[in-house]
Amino acid sequence: MLRSQPARHRWAIRRSAFAVCVAGIVLSGVTGASLAATCEATLATDDTIRFIPAHIDVPASCVEFTVKLTHTGRLPKAAMAHNWVLVKKPDLVLVARDGAAAGADADYVMPGDKRVIAHSGIIGRGETTSVTFPVKELKAGVEYVFFCSFTGHSPVMQGTLAVKP
Ligand code: CO
Repeated sequence: MLRSQPARHRWAIRRSAFAVCVAGIVLSGVTGASLAATCEATLATDDTIRFIPAHIDVPASCVEFTVKLTHTGRLPKAAMAHNWVLVKKPDLVLVARDGAAAGADADYVMPGDKRVIAHSGIIGRGETTSVTFPVKELKAGVEYVFFCSFTGHSPVMQGTLAVKP
């Protein structure tokens, strides 16, 4: 059928088909990337006592949210380890105190601590870890903070997390 049409018309059809195809690829790529990106966050750590970035926005539309933690430092794990612990802001100090008391065997999180919303394991240099938690347990407008409960880190190694409608 195309064969019987004028050359210019054939070209126009091919060109528009190509444009639709490209648009589809671009759109699906963008959509796929944003869906994957918005329900997870990767936080970098190293031998400085901080999370990069130090803020996470969690879309309320996510069923679950995953936080990945990386550690690119060089110091030995015994001296510079990190984890990721999520709590409501007013709970931070006491959760950190109880985590410190629980010690390394408990990944510096008191077993069964109901104030802990989610937490990862402890990692050392070159290691990564992740934790996935349900978003429905979080509420918009509540101030959530995450911190590292490794010895001495909680006063400075902190970040904030917010649920966004
Ligand atoms: Co730390």
